[in-house]
Amino acid sequence: MQQRIPQADIAAQASAILAASSGTQDQLLPVLHALQDAIGYVPPDQVVNIASTFNLSRAEVHGVITFYHYFRTEAPARQVVQICRAEACQSMGGDALLAHAEQALGCKLHAHSGDGEFALEPVYCLGQCATAPSMMINEALHARVTPARFDKLLAKAKEAA
Ligand code: FES
Repeated sequence: MQQRIPQADIAAQASAILAASSGTQDQLLPVLHALQDAIGYVPPDQVVNIASTFNLSRAEVHGVITFYHYFRTEAPARQVVQICRAEACQSMGGDALLAHAEQALGCKLHAHSGDGEFALEPVYCLGQCATAPSMMINEALHARVTPARFDKLLAKAKEAA
């Protein structure tokens, strides 16, 4: 489960990472990785500081961040629900499970629930094809997941938050 970092700590961590950089442009990607590792994403309000550190324009830094899909520009959800979208699970009720998950979380795949607590993501085979449909909540694998079981698992995840 991801922990949220207070805004003041984000600024302090970003400043420390940028200050430790040589400022040479070959260090831009390592610094972006360090920011995402430390903070969970590359804060948009730090783009101006990143640009200044590397003597680049804000547009150039923004271009690099958006070119690499790996980099996030918003805080990740604290919890992740992954629904298997591979063939065996689809043929065993995976589509209905996904539709139920979208309705229960109030968001589509690749999006966050309204409260930002959960991300809903696809995954392609969890090695549990014989007990489909399968899903994960955070690091926990679940098989033979019905909509009713999904609701119980989601309630348990909310309790644990
Ligand atoms: S297809 Fe879903 S676990 Fe293999």
